[in-house]
Amino acid sequence: MSSVLTEICPHPVVQAPMAGGVAVPQLAAAVSEAGGLGFLAAGYKTADGMYQEIKQLRGLTSRPFGVNLFLPQPETPDAAAVGVYAHQLAGEASWYETELGDADSGRDDGYDAKLAVLLDNPVPVVSFHFGVPSREVLDALRRAGTFTLVTATTAEEARAVEQAGADAVIAQGVEAGGHQGTHRDVPDTDRSGVGLLSLVAQVRESVGIPVVAAGGIMRGGQIAAVLAAGADAAQLGTAFLAAHESGAHSLHKRALTDPLYARTELTRAFSGRPARALVNRFLREHGPYAPAAYPDVHHLTAPLRKAAARAGDAQGMALWAGQGHRMARELPAGQLVELLAAELEAAR
Ligand SMILES: Cc1cc2nc3c(=O)[nH]c(=O)nc-3n(C[C@H](O)[C@H](O)[C@H](O)COP(=O)(O)O)c2cc1C
Repeated sequence: MSSVLTEICPHPVVQAPMAGGVAVPQLAAAVSEAGGLGFLAAGYKTADGMYQEIKQLRGLTSRPFGVNLFLPQPETPDAAAVGVYAHQLAGEASWYETELGDADSGRDDGYDAKLAVLLDNPVPVVSFHFGVPSREVLDALRRAGTFTLVTATTAEEARAVEQAGADAVIAQGVEAGGHQGTHRDVPDTDRSGVGLLSLVAQVRESVGIPVVAAGGIMRGGQIAAVLAAGADAAQLGTAFLAAHESGAHSLHKRALTDPLYARTELTRAFSGRPARALVNRFLREHGPYAPAAYPDVHHLTAPLRKAAARAGDAQGMALWAGQGHRMARELPAGQLVELLAAELEAAR
């Protein structure tokens, strides 16, 4: 394992940043306190909302932690398709007695404002999703003493991450829950993702920087496998989504192990970008024709997803989950880190 990463997290266990209220400061603190690396998710938050969470987390732990940012997104190639999708979702809006959101609610997720906060008040680690930051941004963070990571879903993307000057790359396999961090979303490539073990081995041979493996990891034995394949640490999302401190909706947590949800699928139904979720009614009905339009579709469906959650209807929620969801364990997050570390030790 890379020595800098070992210093940041004694156990090679990174809790994935999970936007949408899952990766709350209590979760990140519990993971970091147990010797893993806890993460906050700045995605969909304002810069001030992110800053408040950082302050709260600093009050809970003095251990290193990370903050995750989304890259600004280019214009949607087919804006008309968003209008058509809105029309197709009209029945959902009346069913949940709400309005559709405004698809034009912004495409940069407050990137510059969030970076300004993170340069003024540096945090130990920053990771990026949905693209590669500029060399200037990565250099400025390094000068501020921040360790940087960028998600890649192919060996080519990993090389771009290294060339831009990031300190480490997250190799995200197609098994991963939530959004694929593909750098450029190309329509009709939804199902072409690379499996994690194959990806880690390819990325290891393509770059010299540390590699963090993400996707479908639920047990210490799997962490041992990705370390053996060339990774320096593992990033787990779904496993921590089920933890006591996770801010996930109780229906979302319960659905992970509910036999009603037999499988996951990559879908554009909720956000317009491929993301892995448990197959439910909304995904089944709208996934087949949802357009490649992120974050337009995310904004459009946000009130629907909130209304479904308020109504206690998991069939209308985005139940993000990785392929290992059935192996989720509802434990305090610190205990989960310790258990994963013990399983890893036993497997080595
Ligand atoms: C509910 C949920 C939300 C996520 N949100 C983010 C996010 O905000 N930023 C990010 O970089 N990755 C996000 N991810 C992806 C994770 O970083 C990671 O790639 C994934 O969880 C790994 O697969 P696993 O869930 O099977 O462990 C999310 C994943 C889930 C399950």
